[in-house]
Amino acid sequence: MAEQTKTATLTIDGQSFELPILSPTSGPDVIDIRKLYAQAGVFTYDPGFTSTAACDSTITFIDGDKGELLHRGYPIDQLAEQSHYLEVCYALLYGELPDADALEEFEALVTRHTMIHEQMHMFFRGFRRDAHPMATMVGVVGAMSAFYHDSTDIDDANQREVASIRLVAKMPTIAAMAYKYSIGQPFVYPRNDLDYAANFLHMCFSVPAEDYVVNPILARAMDRIFTLHADHEQNASTSTVRLASSSGANPFACVAAGIACLWGPAHGGANQACLEMLKEIGTVDRIPEFIARAKDKNDSYRLMGFGHRVYKNFDPRATVLKQSADEVLELLGVENNPILQVAKELERQALADPYFADKKLFPNVDFYSGIILEAMGFPTSMFTPIFALARTVGWISQWKEQLADPQLKIGRPRQLYLGDTARDYVDIEKR
Ligand code: SDX
Repeated sequence: MAEQTKTATLTIDGQSFELPILSPTSGPDVIDIRKLYAQAGVFTYDPGFTSTAACDSTITFIDGDKGELLHRGYPIDQLAEQSHYLEVCYALLYGELPDADALEEFEALVTRHTMIHEQMHMFFRGFRRDAHPMATMVGVVGAMSAFYHDSTDIDDANQREVASIRLVAKMPTIAAMAYKYSIGQPFVYPRNDLDYAANFLHMCFSVPAEDYVVNPILARAMDRIFTLHADHEQNASTSTVRLASSSGANPFACVAAGIACLWGPAHGGANQACLEMLKEIGTVDRIPEFIARAKDKNDSYRLMGFGHRVYKNFDPRATVLKQSADEVLELLGVENNPILQVAKELERQALADPYFADKKLFPNVDFYSGIILEAMGFPTSMFTPIFALARTVGWISQWKEQLADPQLKIGRPRQLYLGDTARDYVDIEKR
């Protein structure tokens, strides 16, 4: 727990209240207002939580001004370049990078939990084939609590561990099944001789009619995309998972809530919305028209993949993904992809425009990811399911951290009430 280093004094109607200030390892100090309402009878007001720390955490740190992202202290660019997704998962879940034996044991454990209960195949078949894969994932992951009831007791440390491994291991299988179901192809079982990212590509793109050989460069790009999406401090979907978990809900229900929240175009749904925007722009000569709309105060239109609540500099993940986009598209022989050209020119023009510069609106993680995913053969409807797959380890790491907090209380925000004061019921004849 952070120590009090200073004191803030709040004066209301001549009465002063002292509030402890707690200092972090990195980042801004926080004013501890836990006793404010009891002492001063007032709430704080912060819709959207722009100035509110909802918890303390040791997992991920973001410096939005510097464009810095650390997972357990390790910079995201170093992890993307030198590590791989399951090693990052280990660090997020357990706090340290694993040694060789621990990593081998962890990867073997995840590999042997990738299959899902055979009855869940039936569950998939209740959906329409044209259901959005995110709808399928919300439903199927929520239903996991019915199929894996033996790892739903959040007070049992072993069950928490089993649920964590099951979720990290099974999300690629579920996401791939959602994809296969949506295109009318048979489900493909995971294979234990493939690594995590290669297995996902295998489950998505292999068919019974012929052998499918995973391209190692695409598998590396897929793994890097997973790593870049693994966790991101207290974003909307992670906060949703934490709030759901604070009531004692089981991990599968909490992750299903996180998937639902991630789906929104302001959050994880932005990767799909961004590619759809780039396709709507179509050619570089139409870029000024879209930039003008995004700048128009009377138009709610926004450039998808731009802006961020925390980053007021480049999103470091976008920087890595931009480089990956060049590599993957060159490998696939589509380096002259018109959509990539539109994206790069849109980025150049937006960053040269005072509106975006003044508001510190830079490309975020969703700006380039869709270009790579489409080049790899995924439909736009699979972009956010892939984000959800990758973010599951972040949700679960934060879920475990919160459950280990002895001060855990159910999350229950208050409000600024602007409705009617008390009034008597009126019979319908008198209305
Ligand atoms: C993710 O939180 C996380 O960490 C999320 C995430 C993660 O890993 O979990 O990083 C993943 O969700 C990335 C963000 C993906 N979303 C998009 O790309 C959608 C487009 N971006 C915007 O909707 C917006 O930038 C948000 C939602 C990302 C952030 O919104 P904020 O912080 O609430 O900022 P805001 O809406 O108050 O905007 C500030 C100003 C406004 O103008 P003014 O009212 O001050 O005049 O900037 C403008 C906005 O109109 N603005 C944009 C813009 N984003 C903000 N104008 C044009 N295009 C945009 N994209």
